[in-house]
Amino acid sequence: MEMSKKILITYATYTGSAETIAGLISSDLESRGFRTSLMPMQEVKDISSFDAVIAGSAIHSGKWLPEAFDFLELFRDQLLTRPFAAYLVCMTMAMKKSEKYLQFVSDFMIPVRQIVTPVSEGHFAGKLEIRRLPSLSDKIKFRISVAAGIWKEGDHINRMEISKWSESLSHIL
Ligand SMILES: Cc1cc2nc3c(=O)[nH]c(=O)nc-3n(C[C@H](O)[C@H](O)[C@H](O)COP(=O)(O)O)c2cc1C
Repeated sequence: MEMSKKILITYATYTGSAETIAGLISSDLESRGFRTSLMPMQEVKDISSFDAVIAGSAIHSGKWLPEAFDFLELFRDQLLTRPFAAYLVCMTMAMKKSEKYLQFVSDFMIPVRQIVTPVSEGHFAGKLEIRRLPSLSDKIKFRISVAAGIWKEGDHINRMEISKWSESLSHIL
């Protein structure tokens, strides 16, 4: 019998959405017979024992968080030798999904693809909880965006979409 594959699921988060999504992917994959390890990107010391890696980050100002880029650079050579899937979490995905917005969000991944091209990408909506933002300037900025009707506060994590992506990953990892 084939040994079940070991998958690292690692995340970079500011207010927890990327971590919640990592947990959902982990339980989906575990239920399909994979073994998974969940870890923030800064805590990853070695990926050599994993058969595949899934990495996801919150989007700030149109980009993955800096620690997510550090992770990609640090493990680039090893990520190139095993299946690597990547996801992003942002508020633009919580808006009405026109082709224009989907393309706009997909382009957030261009700098990631330039370092390691993922075998698959997940683009997900997260949550926006303004009172949990650590900086006052962020709080003000987001109150203005919400008042202007640009972004909606609250939890927009869509379990169905995440589980669809996990299902597709279970065939390629
Ligand atoms: C400082 C800051 C900048 C952000 N910039 C963007 C952005 O450029 N585009 C976007 O769609 N969402 C943006 N967001 C929304 C977050 O990506 C969204 O709330 C996401 O769910 C956060 O993930 P996290 O909970 O894992 O930190 C920003 C949020 C913060 C706090």
